[in-house]
Amino acid sequence: MNEMIRTILERRSCRSFTKEPVSRETVDTILDCALCAPSGKGLETWQFTAVMDREKIQRLCKAVGKALGRGPEYNMYDPAVLIITSNEKDSKYREVDNACAMENIYLASSALGLGCVWINQLLTCFDEPKVREILREFGLPDSQGVYGCAAIGYPAETPKEKARKGKKRVVE
Ligand SMILES: Cc1cc2nc3c(=O)[nH]c(=O)nc-3n(C[C@H](O)[C@H](O)[C@H](O)COP(=O)(O)O)c2cc1C
Repeated sequence: MNEMIRTILERRSCRSFTKEPVSRETVDTILDCALCAPSGKGLETWQFTAVMDREKIQRLCKAVGKALGRGPEYNMYDPAVLIITSNEKDSKYREVDNACAMENIYLASSALGLGCVWINQLLTCFDEPKVREILREFGLPDSQGVYGCAAIGYPAETPKEKARKGKKRVVE
């Protein structure tokens, strides 16, 4: 089978990671894939911010956990890398553009032997003052919202083959 098709068919979300770090080169490859995603009218109003320091990621988790009443144990599955996909808050295609990029991130991670899962919690709290303070520190402009994050690391679990529930396929 074609390798790209196999990657698409076999990709699954991973929610448990080893402590092994991910190299800068690997992260750059994933970011290149995110940046090559399609965007409405080719506007590319997005930014992809890779945080490669576990402690910094956990500092963000604590702020998000607090903002959402999730408690101090909220840790986004403790990944080695967190890629924050942000976009201009007034960009018409912000969420769909970022979703395209998120899928590229998912697929690139799978192709490179990494686990990845979409983390959605920033969506509702990116402008909470304590959360925004950390995002600003990471280099996100205040004009941008967060429309998806990818928690990435070497997998500590093999996600099970999953039967798709909604088999809504029509060929006329
Ligand atoms: C918009 C969106 C938001 C998601 N948010 C989360 C999340 O916050 N936490 C999580 O563990 N998984 C999240 N996921 C992953 C889905 O739960 C997962 O893709 C789905 O259950 C199908 O499983 P699969 O990715 O293994 O095929 C999200 C996926 C999407 C597309």
